[in-house]
Amino acid sequence: MCGIAGYVGSGLAQPVLLGGLKRLEYRGYDSAGVAELTGMELAVTKAVGRISELEKRLTESGATIGIAHTRWATHGVPSEPNAHPHVAGKLALVHNGIIENYRSIRDVLARRGVTFTSDTDTEVLAQLVNTEVDRKKREGVDRPLAEGVRAALREVRGTFGIVVLSADYPGMLVAARRGSPLVIGYGDGEHLVASDTSALLGRTRRVVYLEDDEMAEITADDVRLETLDAQPVKRKATKISGKLDDVQKQGYAHFMLKEIYEQPEVLHDAIRGRLRPDTGTAKLGGVNLTDDELRDIDQVVLIGCGTALYAGQVAAYWLEKLARVPATAVVASEWRYRNPIVSERTLCVALSQSGETADTLAAIREAKAKGARTIGVINVIGSTIAREVADGGTYIHAGPEIGVASSKAFTNMLGVLLLLALQIGRVRNLSEAAGAAIAKAAAELPEIMASQLKHRDEVAAAAKRYHGTRDALYLGRGLTYPMALEGALKLKEISYVHAEAYPAGEMKHGPIALVDPKLLAVVLAPQNALYEKTKSNLEEIRAREGSVLTVTTEGNRDLDGLADAVLEVPKVHEVLEPFVLAIPLQLFAYEMAVTRGTDVDMPRNLAKSVTVE
Ligand code: AGP
Repeated sequence: MCGIAGYVGSGLAQPVLLGGLKRLEYRGYDSAGVAELTGMELAVTKAVGRISELEKRLTESGATIGIAHTRWATHGVPSEPNAHPHVAGKLALVHNGIIENYRSIRDVLARRGVTFTSDTDTEVLAQLVNTEVDRKKREGVDRPLAEGVRAALREVRGTFGIVVLSADYPGMLVAARRGSPLVIGYGDGEHLVASDTSALLGRTRRVVYLEDDEMAEITADDVRLETLDAQPVKRKATKISGKLDDVQKQGYAHFMLKEIYEQPEVLHDAIRGRLRPDTGTAKLGGVNLTDDELRDIDQVVLIGCGTALYAGQVAAYWLEKLARVPATAVVASEWRYRNPIVSERTLCVALSQSGETADTLAAIREAKAKGARTIGVINVIGSTIAREVADGGTYIHAGPEIGVASSKAFTNMLGVLLLLALQIGRVRNLSEAAGAAIAKAAAELPEIMASQLKHRDEVAAAAKRYHGTRDALYLGRGLTYPMALEGALKLKEISYVHAEAYPAGEMKHGPIALVDPKLLAVVLAPQNALYEKTKSNLEEIRAREGSVLTVTTEGNRDLDGLADAVLEVPKVHEVLEPFVLAIPLQLFAYEMAVTRGTDVDMPRNLAKSVTVE
């Protein structure tokens, strides 16, 4: 969602800020802005739309301190007045998150004569900070900027990651967080602050993450960390690992395409060293549960949103089949509000690529508060969920995923969840032989997926054929049902074709009414134990003249007369079918989007990391 970049040092601030914003573009935004301080002069520039629009309006100011922001509208439409930074008096402020009680604060400030120029909660926060900084100045306290920010934040409810710059206190940024990530980059005679480490890449690798209810006073030479309650905080800088290449397209037309093609390599990275093919098990380092504790689990709840939820649905099948433990995947935003039933024998698994999804974070906090065991399966190292899920957690090692539509993070999340199912399975019911068969087959997946990626042309031809489709119905059974959900999500996200997914057996209980020659049915029918059942459903669609694209096992000629188009997937162990189905489903959505001319990497209205509820 929104992105923050800040700089103070001896170099020029503007190129650092714009570079940072560009590397945050993937998070999704609709407007952008920069505030720079040249001497005591505060200059703010904003633009609706892309960062390139903002760039056109900027001239090099010579400033060596500044803050910048990309906004994804929550309160108020995308417009210049609503874009950040927001100015109040002589200060400028950028904000990620939501101030829940902004209306009442706005009313109080308005009664005192403060006027507002935007519809945003952030402007209210900027005005409140300005009022408090002025008060601290009048009271003659030390460090009025930091103390004013602290006092203002005592008044607010909600979430914030903020950075403040003031013409009265040049050479200093004040940052604070509650619920919205901020990371400080330590450079040579300079400091940076950002909402995401990718904004820092290329400038520094040494970082300190702010924790909730902490603030920082940042100058070129020093960073002073404190809690919002004024307790000093000591924290050593850690090193981030990403490469600048990870956030560049490297010759691919889109980040999403690059990330689809990276899957064999990153899946290999995620399972290498963790999978034990000989004993049919796996060892996930971050899962801090003993074998006895794993045996003691009486249910697993997999918590996520969107693609992460669908990875959880696949894993629920695996956990029940391989580990014989009841497992359910739940929608984070629903589960947290239904007074969930958990105990100390429940294992709650937070699934999140970004590690910042507000609903997933809130749900895992609820699980913890209720006494469940909690672990995270996360991509972004150092993200909030990764740091907060105290009982343990494991990284999926997919590397930065820039395309808003998830691809490699999905298959790597599946990879790690398969390892988890094997690890739990082997200390419970799974035999060594059965575990070894799966583990050995899993080790071959990266190579198999690499060979699938050579068949992009066939998928592109199918997309060409169906590019005019308005509605698509994805059908699957068993393990292929969550893949139908994921395929439909991919298609709607990036090509804007309406798509939904159903368990194939449910089709005749309603959706069959939709079937006509204009509806595209995408039927996932690999030759597995449920194949004949799925084939019957396919025939039902055919009998009603629906057009059918099927995804089936290589060499299967059985569906030739029943489908208009066939995409093939290699024969793999039945349990591993989701991995090989992912490739044609992702490529089909991608090629549909390209033929329809949509913005593949930054689809309209979407944000990469959804940090508001
Ligand atoms: C995936 O293509 C989507 N962009 C979206 O559904 C995403 O998976 C969801 O918002 C969860 O994100 P997370 O994994 O970062 O928590």
